[in-house]
Amino acid sequence: MKSQVHGVAAIYLLLQCVSGAAPKSSALQSGSSFMNLPRKFWHDTYTYTDLPGEDEEQEDESAESTTHDPYPFFDDANMAANVTTQLGNDVYLHCRVNDLRERTVSWVRRKGDEVHLITVGRQTYSSDSRYSLQFQPPNNWQLLIQYSNERDEGHYECRISSYPPLVYLVYLIVVVPRVEIIDERGQATLDKFYKAGSTIELKCIISRVPQPTSYVTWKHGMRMLNYDTSRGGISVKTDLLPGGAMSRLYIANANRYDTGNYTCALADIAQATVSVHVLNGENPAAMQHGGGAQWKPMLGNAVVLLLLLLGISFNAFR
Ligand SMILES: *[C@@H]1O[C@H](CO)[C@@H](O)[C@H](O)[C@H]1NC(C)=O
Ligand SMILES: *[C@@H]1O[C@H](CO)[C@@H](O)[C@H](O)[C@H]1NC(C)=O
Repeated sequence: MKSQVHGVAAIYLLLQCVSGAAPKSSALQSGSSFMNLPRKFWHDTYTYTDLPGEDEEQEDESAESTTHDPYPFFDDANMAANVTTQLGNDVYLHCRVNDLRERTVSWVRRKGDEVHLITVGRQTYSSDSRYSLQFQPPNNWQLLIQYSNERDEGHYECRISSYPPLVYLVYLIVVVPRVEIIDERGQATLDKFYKAGSTIELKCIISRVPQPTSYVTWKHGMRMLNYDTSRGGISVKTDLLPGGAMSRLYIANANRYDTGNYTCALADIAQATVSVHVLNGENPAAMQHGGGAQWKPMLGNAVVLLLLLLGISFNAFR
């Protein structure tokens, strides 16, 4: 009785293994990533075109048919391209196809083993409305991605529904610009200290920008400084550098109202902030020894005190 139960269990397991292994091995045999899409999908979307089959017969048939029908091909003989864009920009992925005839062009996104359908023909199937097909005559099946973000980076495939399918690979790189406010030694800084009456000078470095732009803005808190005329004595100078820019903000005759957070920004894509402290008082020594009421709140700030003691803070404008 016991051995009988074991026997049944063994046969059951064996059957499970066989049935489980069968679909896996056929998927492996097919080799092409194209096969990973459910077969139903291809039947649904390519009802009138040749579909890849697992049987040899179909291969012979289509080989025969290609002798009458010119085979489609991509303009770019490399069949691959790298495209670089900047975070926040619109980007077009080109796919120029010749001799397409009645066949269909589709775009898919590949993420590891997953394949996501984006477009078929001129229809967009992606749930992300930033993606769309922008056909440009005569033969460019461009995929437009608006306001590119970091998650858009990766592999895309422009596919022709020929047999076997032709695939144009595009690798999209989304570059995230870097913005840093640097000190005199060229190092990123979060705090800057100035004596009242001195000139505040902030330097901002923008890098990793494939399409350089001088559109750099400076703000004090929420207040835009680039075109500010209310205070006077403010100037902004921005120079383009290869792959970026350097922007400098000058504020003459600093006073305590100039204290606060200053932000340097590249459009609304990337920014850096520095906290500026304008110290009232004739000289640092007086501030240290005076012990006046105005310094009491600052004593709590160990960093400020340490910098004052070290005398580092006032090297900035010497
Ligand atoms: C894309 O970039 C990778 C890595 O830099 C390189 O190996 C590959 O050849 C490039 N492909 C094309 C088509 O330029
Ligand atoms: C400046 O920024 C710091 C850090 O984000 C914040 O803690 C502080 O409250 C800000 N100061 C002002 C005046 O907004």
